Amino acid sequence: MLEATAAVLKGLGYAATLIAAGPVLAAATLRNVPSAPNLVWSAGVALAMTAASAAWLFLLRLGGQADVVSMEAIFLSPLGVALSLQFAGGLWLAALVRGKLALPGAIMVVAAFGIVGHAPSNGSLAAALVMLHVVCVTWWFGGLCVLLLASHRRGATELGELAARFSRQAIVVVALLVAAALTLSAILANFRFDPASDYQRGLLVKSALLLGLLALASVNKLSLTPRLAVQADARSWLRRAIALEMVLFAALIGTTSWLTTYQSPHDHRAGPNAAAPIAIVDAWAPAMLGGARTGAAYMVITNNQIADDTLRSVSSPWAEQVTLHTSISDGLIARMRNLPNLPIAAGASVTLAPGSRHLMFSGLYAPFVAGDVIPLTLTFEKAGDVQAAIMVLPLGERPGDTHDHGEM
Ligand code: HEM
Repeated sequence: MLEATAAVLKGLGYAATLIAAGPVLAAATLRNVPSAPNLVWSAGVALAMTAASAAWLFLLRLGGQADVVSMEAIFLSPLGVALSLQFAGGLWLAALVRGKLALPGAIMVVAAFGIVGHAPSNGSLAAALVMLHVVCVTWWFGGLCVLLLASHRRGATELGELAARFSRQAIVVVALLVAAALTLSAILANFRFDPASDYQRGLLVKSALLLGLLALASVNKLSLTPRLAVQADARSWLRRAIALEMVLFAALIGTTSWLTTYQSPHDHRAGPNAAAPIAIVDAWAPAMLGGARTGAAYMVITNNQIADDTLRSVSSPWAEQVTLHTSISDGLIARMRNLPNLPIAAGASVTLAPGSRHLMFSGLYAPFVAGDVIPLTLTFEKAGDVQAAIMVLPLGERPGDTHDHGEM
């Protein structure tokens, strides 16, 4: 239930981001556009409310106690910082939409995407790409909003000029959007196409929806825009085409929130990536009950190098400490022992699994909840720092189990 609520809040947050920041970003480059203060105000407040609700959900995950430890966990964890940016950015946009200072609000909102999620946990390049991607989609959506408003408020010549300006700039923005999306997808998928990965299938659905958007945008540019100044019915066709584009945007937002809540880019089924010096697959952790401060995580680590290597240390921004542990059976009692390091021979794989070697997170800022993606840095003697993302699975589930999380 918490997962489904988180997915819905995410989708609402994406929609509110596009509606609140979009017209502001579009106005910054298009100039002389009809303003939409009421729309931006409502979406900015809605964005602040979704961020506050997500923080409240986070508090529930921590056990529901509004004590100092929980407050620190909320506001000092990466998720807390991102939610604070969305909250402040939403209110900023709502308060300053009528002035000239709305743009920093839009920047705050977009910056939140570079702090938590699959992309930031893959490093700063992926974080920058996801922010660029979100700026482009937000600008595109905002441009459609102002064009729709202009189709009601502006004369034929002015509307035609605005549509032509939008089409010219959109070519650059959409090219950037696609370039960022493809590079980001390749990085997150470890440069490997895996048709069995649900995550990658989700990206294919997004690509198909984008193709639909591009087809409509081409009709707007090539057929409707040149006729706006001379034919009255071109205006109503433009409105219909924009409405259809917005429906496709809604489908893209739904797909994105499903992808980022329920799927992991690391759910490859076809084995480790032979190209990476150290390959980490099936990194997962079981969901925990609220209030817990320690948690375990598992994965398969493959050393693809021609030399032996040793895992020296592990860290994560989600916990004060991450250590290597092993469970040893002493008669009927299973004991935990700290492992100082983990040697992996050249070409060998080591499996961290329940009941044997595993990673132990202590001093967790928040318990693992299904759908969370926990960033992790594993430091090897030779391969250096290797980034990984742990997918938190519902209790009782393991990687490769059914991926149908639809029933809540
Ligand atoms: C207009 C079309 C699109 C919209 C509205 C859109 C929207 C978004 C949004 C809001 C995010 C941020 C998610 C987050 O970090 O929480 C995102 C991330 C992403 N998008 Fe798109 N997107 C579009 C097209 C595409 C296409 C065509 C692809 C790839 C083929 C793509 C690939 C990605 C990837 C890989 C991420 C990172 C997802 C993750 O963190 O797992 N997007 N998109």
